[in-house]
Parts: sequence; structure tokens; C-alpha cells
Amino acid sequence: MRQVVNNWQTDQKGDAGRQPKPQYQSAFRIMKSYMGPYRGSFALVVLCTIAAIASELFQPYLVKVAIDDNLMTGNNDYGSLLIICAIYFGLSISGLVFTYLQNNLLQHVGQSIVSKIRKQLFKHITKLSMSYFDKTASGSLITHVSSDTEAVNQFFNQVLLTLLRDGLTLIAILFMMFYLDAELALYCTALLPIIALIAIGFRSFMRNTYQMARTRLSRLVAFVAENLSGMNLIQVFHQQKEQAKQFEERNEAYFKANLREIRTMVLFNRSFDLLGNLTIAFVVWHGGQAVFGQALEFGILYAFITYIRQFFQPINAITQQWNTLQAATVAVNRIRGVLDTKPEIEDSSQPIQVNRDAIEGRIDFNRISFGYDSSLPVFRGLDLHIRPGEMVGIVGTTGAGKSSLMSLLCRFYDVQDGSVLIDGNDIRDIPQAELHRIVGLVQQEPYLFAGSIIDNIRMFDETISREAVIQACEFVGADALMKRMKDGYDTMLSERGSGLSAGERQLLSFARIIVFRPKILILDEATANLDSQTEQLIQQALQVVSVGRTTIVIAHRLSTIMHADRILVLRHGEIAEAGTHAQLVEKKGLYEQLYRHSQGESFPSSAVSMIR
Ligand SMILES: Nc1ncnc2c1ncn2[C@@H]1O[C@H](COP(=O)(O)OP(=O)(O)O)[C@@H](O)[C@H]1O
Ligand SMILES: [Mg+2]
Repeated sequence: MRQVVNNWQTDQKGDAGRQPKPQYQSAFRIMKSYMGPYRGSFALVVLCTIAAIASELFQPYLVKVAIDDNLMTGNNDYGSLLIICAIYFGLSISGLVFTYLQNNLLQHVGQSIVSKIRKQLFKHITKLSMSYFDKTASGSLITHVSSDTEAVNQFFNQVLLTLLRDGLTLIAILFMMFYLDAELALYCTALLPIIALIAIGFRSFMRNTYQMARTRLSRLVAFVAENLSGMNLIQVFHQQKEQAKQFEERNEAYFKANLREIRTMVLFNRSFDLLGNLTIAFVVWHGGQAVFGQALEFGILYAFITYIRQFFQPINAITQQWNTLQAATVAVNRIRGVLDTKPEIEDSSQPIQVNRDAIEGRIDFNRISFGYDSSLPVFRGLDLHIRPGEMVGIVGTTGAGKSSLMSLLCRFYDVQDGSVLIDGNDIRDIPQAELHRIVGLVQQEPYLFAGSIIDNIRMFDETISREAVIQACEFVGADALMKRMKDGYDTMLSERGSGLSAGERQLLSFARIIVFRPKILILDEATANLDSQTEQLIQQALQVVSVGRTTIVIAHRLSTIMHADRILVLRHGEIAEAGTHAQLVEKKGLYEQLYRHSQGESFPSSAVSMIR
């Protein structure tokens, strides 16, 4: 875990050093492919947008009509004034309704697409091979599923909405201004290049401040995550002060970046306001002169001023979407990257049909070579053959390759050379789902899901009866634990089974494996967390379970494997010694040394001498 968190941090640092260049084209193409099924809804959104904009932009025009055709003419026509007011009110209502519809529709489509992407991502990630998780920090995967998909949502509900609504508004305003007075409109459009210059200038500046704030936030988050996972260490080594100081530094950096971002935003917005007001002053001055000279109707001047005010708002809104667009683009490309990752381990295109019940459980490792990194081989041509129903114990120092060997048998990784066979069938030809029902693995740290105990034991497989689960629990001696639990077998466990001791979790995972009746049973240091009394229980259960099953037991405590049919001593990925307990003790080799050591462990000679 520690290593993963560290990777994540360096990840973030790497990001800060060279910011990923957004690839807009590919992002838009991907987005378009997701939008395809919602074509109809999008067309409706566009229609609603047009209706909403028309309702809004027609209002100043209506006031112009009231001023020029009613108020300024002198005939007190209350009737038509009332009608104009009624239409004005009606337009406001229709603007509201269409904006609401448009927002809702777009939200619905956006959220549907994002929830689809999230589901797709999660499903895809669960299919990826172990080697992928070795290379990828879990923190970055969490980011993909949570914040990256959220950025995509923002693309629909902010970027697309703004581009559509404000883009159309802008065009409509320009149209109305030219329609009302072409000369005055021409003067105003002369401003456009200035606006563009300001926008471009601020854009790059804003991108930097935005990126800086994001990077510093993720560093802060990574730091908290690392601290949480290492909290016991921090407290044991009294690192609270030191960690708080480091946190303070990161917090301060984020605070500053945030302030800078906000300052930039405010400056940008206000400079736009200033430009807008300048334009209005110009229009009032120039248009006012025209009104004095009777060349322009007063109503038109009023409408013009209102349109100018409305003109700057969409421009401002569009430029503000720049950051969101950028974040969404990076997010989409990252999501695509995960989705495009092919699992390294895939089912063969011509899988063989295996009859699970007919499997005898013979295992052949034929001259296998394997390494997580091809330059660092763990096994170099290892040959090992296990008879059906044999019980094999494996011992060896940490890093000897015991767990790796079992990972190969479960096909979490593929061998680079040689082959692994079960009953003579290459495991690469057996569908993975089938293989994992044949080979049952119990590890040192069993994983429990949030859910009831019974579901955790039968792994949410409803075809397994309650009786079968109860029987399995009695078998491994977990029934005493069940009696202690609040709701017995229906007690809900929180994530990872916190609330249970390591030994209790292990008992449940034993029950789990017994319920599934695998033909090949692997225990990888599975008894390490158990107290010796519980271990004895398991030992007895194991004696019964292993009958008619090929069983491989990896253990530190030699007492667990002493009675195995064959014991292997693994060293640097090679079988250094093999034989029964008696044979190996006789041999006076590595095993005998280990055995003497373990005898000493229960009565450490140093401790004994100290007592004396
Ligand atoms: N996921 C992994 N990625 C890279 N190297 C690994 C991984 N797992 C184990 N190794 C390396 O492979 C070797 C064998 O490890 P392992 O099979 O876990 O040993 P054991 O279970 O006997 O303690 C060690 O050198 C270890 O560092
Ligand atoms: Mg191991």
C-alpha cells in the first residue's frame, strides 16, 4: 500500500512538471461517439435553446416597440401598451420554461452518458490483469472513476451548454443589432478583435493558475491519503508534529494558488465589464447625438444599450469554459487510455471444455520461466509435478517465489516460457472463470466485501444454500464466532470486514473456500494470522478437506506442513530440497536448519538463558 501511495505522489509530481497536452480532436471524437444514441435528445435541447434565446432577446425589442410606437407618439393608447406588457410577461415565462427544459434534458443526457462511462470503466478495470495493477497506482484509478468522469459530466452540463446557449445568443444579438441600426452595430463589432485579444491573453494565464491550483490540491490529497494509511506508524513514531508541518506547507501552497486563480478571474471579468461600459458610453454618446438629430428613434437606442449589455455576458461565459473544456479533454483521453488497455491475460479463442467434477487435480509446471520484469527472472526453467490428491507443503525464505508460483497456477500472470498444466490441459486453454472454480486460493490477508457474512462466504452466489454455508462454518470451527455475532450469519460486515480480527476474517475465508469445493486447494501463509488454538482447528479441517483434493500449503510455521506427503524447500525460484519431513530432517540440509530454528522459536534459547 505504501508503495502505491508513493507512486501516486510521483505521478502527480510528474503531471506538474509536464502538463499533459489536451488533444481536443480525439476527445471530441470520443465524446461524439458517446452522444450518438442521444441524437434525438440533443436535437430537442437545441430547439429548446433556440426558443429560450428567442424569448429572451425579443424582450428589449418589445420595449423598443412600446417606446417608439406608443410612448413617443403621444396618443395614450393604454390598450396596446397593456398587450405589449402581457406579451413581455409571456416571453419571460416561456424563456423560463424552455431554459428549464433545456437544462433538464441536457443534465439527463450528460448524467446518463457519464454513468455509462463509469460502469464501463469499472467493468473494464475488474477485467484487467494483475500485471496492470502492479504498474498502476490505485490512486490514479480512483481518480479515473470519480473525478475524470465528473469532468466529462461538466463537459456536457457546462461546456456544451455554454457553447450552444451563449454561442447562439451572440449570433442572435449581432443579428438584432444589425437589424436595428447597421452603422451603430458596425462600430460595436469593431470591438470584437479587442475582446479576442484580451480573451487569448487571459486564457494562457488562467490555464497556468488553474493547473497550479489543481496540482497543489492533488498533492494535498495524496499527502492525506498517505498519512491515513500510515497512521499507526505516525503515532508510534510520534511523527504528528513533523507531518502537521508538512501538511501546513502543502496547505499554504494550495491556499496561495487558489487566491491567485481567483484574482485572475476577477481581473478578467472586471476588464470585460469595463469594456462593456465603455461601449455603452460610446453608444449613448454617438446614438444620443443621432437621436437629437432625429436620425435615430429613442426606442432603438434603448434596445441597443440592452443588447450591448447582453453581448458581453455570453462572451465572458464562453471564455470561462476554457478550463472546464481543457479538464474534460484531458479526462476523456485518460479514460480512453484505461478503456483501451487490453487485459494481458485473456481467455483462449478456442477454449477447451472441462468437466469440473472429473478433474483429478494433477499439476505440472513444465520448465517454466517467469519474471515480473523480464530482466529479473523469478523462475528459470522450474520443473514441478504434483500428483492428484497429493498434499504438498512449500517452505522458503521471503521472496523465494512461493506466492509467485501460486499466482502462475491461478493464471494471474502467464509464464514466459514453458507451461502449466492441470490434468494435462494447458491452463491457458481453460476459461479463467472455470480455472478459478477449479483452483481455490486462500491468502494471508483475505478480502471481505461490505455485505452479510453469509453472502461473503458464498460470494453472492444465491445457488449456494444457507445450509451449505452453515455446514462449512461448522467444519472450520467458525460456528462459535457466528454465535457471538449480533445477527449470526446475517450480520452485516463493513468494508474489508473491519470489526473482525485477522484470525476471524481468515476463518470466514476458509469457510468460503470449502463452500466452493475447489479441486485444487492452495493456502498461501493462510494460517499466519491465526492463534495456535485456531490453527489447530484449521489443521483438523484441512486434514478432512484435503482428502481427494490436491492441496498446496505454504507456511512459515513448519507444524502446519510437517505431515504433508511431500515438502519442497524453495530458494531463489528453485527447488532446493524435496521429500517428506523425516527424509528432509535426515538430510540435514536447509529444511533441517529451518526446523531446528522453528523448534528454537517456540523456546528461544536466548530467552531461556536470560531467565536463567
Ligand atoms: N507484483 C510483483 N511485482 C514485481 N515483483 C514481484 C511482485 N510480487 C513478487 N515480486 C518479486 O518476486 C520475487 C518472489 O516473490 P514472492 O513470490 O512473493 O515470494 P514469497 O511468496 O516466497 O515470499 C521477489 O523477488 C519479489 O520481490
Ligand atoms: Mg508470499
